Amino acid sequence: AIRARVEELLADMTIEEKAGQLTQYFAFDLPEGEATVSDLPQVPGEVDDALARGGAGSLLFVNDAARTNRLQRLAVEGSRHGIPALFGYDVIHGLRTILPVPIALAASWDPDTIERGQAVAAREARAVGIHWTFAPMVDIARDPRWGRIVEGAGEDPYLGSAVAAAQVRGFQGDCLGTPDRVVAGPKHFAGYGAAIGGRDYDEVDLSDQQLRNVYLPPFKAAVDAGAGNLMTAYMPLNGVPATANEWLLKDVLRDEWGFDGFLVSDANAVRNLTTHGFAADLPDAAARAVEAGLDLEMAISDPAYAHLPQAVADGRVSIEAVDACVRRILEVKLRLGLFDDPFVDEDRAREVLADPAHRQVAREAAQRSAVLLRNEGHLLPLRAETLTSVAVIGPLADSKRDTLGPWVFDYDLDESVTILDGLRARLGDTADVRYAPGVRPAQRTFPSMFEMFPGNATPDPENFDDEAELARAVEVARTSDVAVVVVGEWQGMIGEAASRSSLELPGRQLELLQAVVATGTPVVLLVMNGRPLDLRWAAQHVPSILDVWYPGTQGGTAVADLLLGDVAPGGKLPFSWPRTVGQVPMIYSHTTSFEPQNQGRRYWDEESTPLFPFGFGLGYGEFTYSDLNLDATTISGDGRLTASVTVTNTGALDGDEVVQLYLHQRHGRAARPVRELKGFRRVHLAAGKSQTVTFEVGPDELRYWSAAARDWVVDASTFDLGIGGDSTVPLTASFTTTA
Ligand code: IFM
Repeated sequence: AIRARVEELLADMTIEEKAGQLTQYFAFDLPEGEATVSDLPQVPGEVDDALARGGAGSLLFVNDAARTNRLQRLAVEGSRHGIPALFGYDVIHGLRTILPVPIALAASWDPDTIERGQAVAAREARAVGIHWTFAPMVDIARDPRWGRIVEGAGEDPYLGSAVAAAQVRGFQGDCLGTPDRVVAGPKHFAGYGAAIGGRDYDEVDLSDQQLRNVYLPPFKAAVDAGAGNLMTAYMPLNGVPATANEWLLKDVLRDEWGFDGFLVSDANAVRNLTTHGFAADLPDAAARAVEAGLDLEMAISDPAYAHLPQAVADGRVSIEAVDACVRRILEVKLRLGLFDDPFVDEDRAREVLADPAHRQVAREAAQRSAVLLRNEGHLLPLRAETLTSVAVIGPLADSKRDTLGPWVFDYDLDESVTILDGLRARLGDTADVRYAPGVRPAQRTFPSMFEMFPGNATPDPENFDDEAELARAVEVARTSDVAVVVVGEWQGMIGEAASRSSLELPGRQLELLQAVVATGTPVVLLVMNGRPLDLRWAAQHVPSILDVWYPGTQGGTAVADLLLGDVAPGGKLPFSWPRTVGQVPMIYSHTTSFEPQNQGRRYWDEESTPLFPFGFGLGYGEFTYSDLNLDATTISGDGRLTASVTVTNTGALDGDEVVQLYLHQRHGRAARPVRELKGFRRVHLAAGKSQTVTFEVGPDELRYWSAAARDWVVDASTFDLGIGGDSTVPLTASFTTTA
């Protein structure tokens, strides 16, 4: 029935109406005065007019039920065929209830938590009339100078694939049209995270084997999980812009992987085909994008697809290619049930956005995302009964906006629980919780394009006496039982178009930390971040370091839960944490090309190891591994074996451990990485308890893309295997594969 309806509509549509269905407009609605709306190219009324003449198949950036209904009415009641508009939005880590940022969710190494969190995000989005999210971002990020590392799952394709699939399931549910869910749109296809120099939007040059083995797997996992949409990347991939890259969009995505959803460009990326020096003009850009199968153009203004009628008339693109795109757009609208039910209930939307169960999910996600990086002398967990005074230091400790992180627009600041709020709520009755910012918020050297959104600019307080405030913070710390110091990056320093040339703590935060440590008061350092920062000094001088990321709406509550031991941190790093920016990129799964000399040291001025390895994170328990066992020592290339290990919590406190399996292939048709993650499971173990954890190893874990064979292969080889709590575990077991 869906197919017949699509064909019926298609047969009656003009080429202008078809081009309209393939155009997505930004529908900015920023409060006047607060936002520099004048910077936006959109003409007032442009979107309304386009909808009413069937010239806009989709809109983005509308997050209010009354507004989606009003705009939808224009499309449904105004246009000739009454085709409803598809509303897309960047629901990256929550709409009203803000979850920890995606890199933090990945640090939970817990697909269930991630799925549950994104299901909440989907429920809130769908309630206000959003049908589709431009998420998850599944780009592998190996250069932390790149600001969008915060939106992904880090450096590893295996973890990245598991996180990608969990997010797709969370957003979308079992199938398109699942109630309370939205279409998932993994992005940015493909290779965007490999931007040269970590500079956002810069070109990407990736070998075949890097692309296939590292950058594409999370997209494949997202497609296999049923993602209904994919967004193409801005930049040229190996010289051909991703947005019109026929090999990528047709040969790989549709033909090899069988993707049958729709594709959207990134903002203005079709127009940018001319900027790249790829397309001759806008009709050429539109024609070549459509020929590559790029269904929907996301346009800030003046869409290239408006030139499709001309391009068809000139014979630059076939009407069949245009129709194929229109079919996919109409089909998704029908599958979502929008023709029957285009509007949302505004009262229900209010109820859904206020649902306290959503805050609980956000709190648990923040608890499970935190990574304990150091805990000398078991300073953590703090014991509430021993504390009469607690110093909370640092401007990020009481910043409602920064607690939420980047890429949120519809938050309610009144609901944002800062770390200071959380500790006051938890300890305020029994201890004196004193706050001192110590230093002023660090500012970006250059402004961010996201500062046009209200509340996104970092405040710069007037009359802030730098020396007096620093001295006051030190005094507050000196006279307290413990000092909780919060350092990191202001949220505007990370995200899109937010690359950094340094990983140092911005502003005077290191100086503040050093001064507080010098008081002799025990210090718990909390790091609020989305990328690794230079913590070399802290890693030697601060007893406890907990990475809390940008923890979201319930961040402060979750942090208090963790610091006081109501729950134990169990997250693990989803990237190798370099000591300094000069080591970047630093990847655990590198290859070895030279006999290790000088203990593998390469730099004369710095270690060649990371500060904290990939997969690392402590708990309040102590975990030991024993009885590593393989049930076979030889398997065929398509055979399987089971690896098992016993994990014991030998510590005094309960906690979670992420059990990780690593493999290394000794020889074959390619030089393979020194080790690669090929399995993980997060387990909860009470103090003194043991659990046997098993993993299956088979073709999926053993195969890789061979540039020589131009295919996926499993080599006859010997493999080393290790199971442990991070990527430095010794690989003590081995097995062989036969041809
Ligand atoms: O979804 C985003 C994308 O990730 C980057 N450019 C803008 C899009 C819409 O906001």
